[in-house]
Amino acid sequence: MIDINKIKNDLSIINTLKELEEIRIALLGKKGEIAALMQNLGKASKEERPVLGAKINELKKEIESLFSIRRIEVKAEELKIRLREEMIDVTLPSSRKEFGKMHPLNTTMENIKEIFIGMGFSVAEGPDIETPYYNFDALNIPKDHPARADQDTFYTEGGYLLRTQTSPVQIRVMEQQKPPIKIIAPGRVFRSDDVDATHNPYFHQIEGLVVDKGLTMADLKGTLLAFSRELFGQDVNIRLRPHYFPFTEPSAEMDISCFVCKDEISASCHVCKGEGFIELLGCGMVHPNVLKACGIDPTVYSGFAFGMGLERIAMQRFKVNDLRLFFENDVKFLNQF
Ligand code: DAH
Repeated sequence: MIDINKIKNDLSIINTLKELEEIRIALLGKKGEIAALMQNLGKASKEERPVLGAKINELKKEIESLFSIRRIEVKAEELKIRLREEMIDVTLPSSRKEFGKMHPLNTTMENIKEIFIGMGFSVAEGPDIETPYYNFDALNIPKDHPARADQDTFYTEGGYLLRTQTSPVQIRVMEQQKPPIKIIAPGRVFRSDDVDATHNPYFHQIEGLVVDKGLTMADLKGTLLAFSRELFGQDVNIRLRPHYFPFTEPSAEMDISCFVCKDEISASCHVCKGEGFIELLGCGMVHPNVLKACGIDPTVYSGFAFGMGLERIAMQRFKVNDLRLFFENDVKFLNQF
């Protein structure tokens, strides 16, 4: 016989919905005790059957209501436990991961690349370990040329050297490609310099080379003006000062008007120091000897080239006064950018 008090007792002991369901199936399920009682009804006499049937139904309803009450209680208890277990203590120190950031040199490099790519340049690369031929000879710097002493570097026994400039990529590209050529070559370069606030034995350059029919200094100047305005602001101007580079003729250094003190040039300006202009890069028309060394006829084609130092540009943009800071990997320094 079904004992209502026993059911009440059973229900009071359990404390999970899973246990509740197990008991419910045993009583009210298809093969449960109530179902068994219903089946037994067949054995009762015709007169007893409706009376018994009504009683069983009443019992079933009572059990069902016990279950639905207990279900609400157990649900509430379970929720309470879960809330307690999964509670987040907002006063605990967070376990948030610190995300890294782009290094200011990489940011600057990416910005410069994007500007030139926008002007139709493609990006070329060359090896850090070069031969003297690519680093010097092919660039119109013969063995006894003083420029070799200015750009002293590390030589290996096998006759290789750590490239002192990205200009050798010009040669590698011109050997492989026929004009029209329009490339930039970003990369690391090496020189045997003593370390100070503006020198480091390795730094980065971005080289540019354009070769086609009929190119002039005007094309060079227009390209560099458009680039400078994109990088430093539309109100900057540029000026070209005559200079000497062995691989260009004529050669120039390009300055940009100071993007910090602008119209009111001031001696206290931390960027131009009252000059009004800042030296930015070397450039010129590719020397006929360089074109010839690459099998390009200088009577048919002309070209212009330029090369700039990444660190110097990044120092100006981010107001960094010591180049060494870029290479120390001090997170406190890097987090400022
Ligand atoms: N390679 C030169 C240097 O390291 C920079 C340079 C000057 C590159 C003039 C050029 C150029 O392409 O035309 O000092």
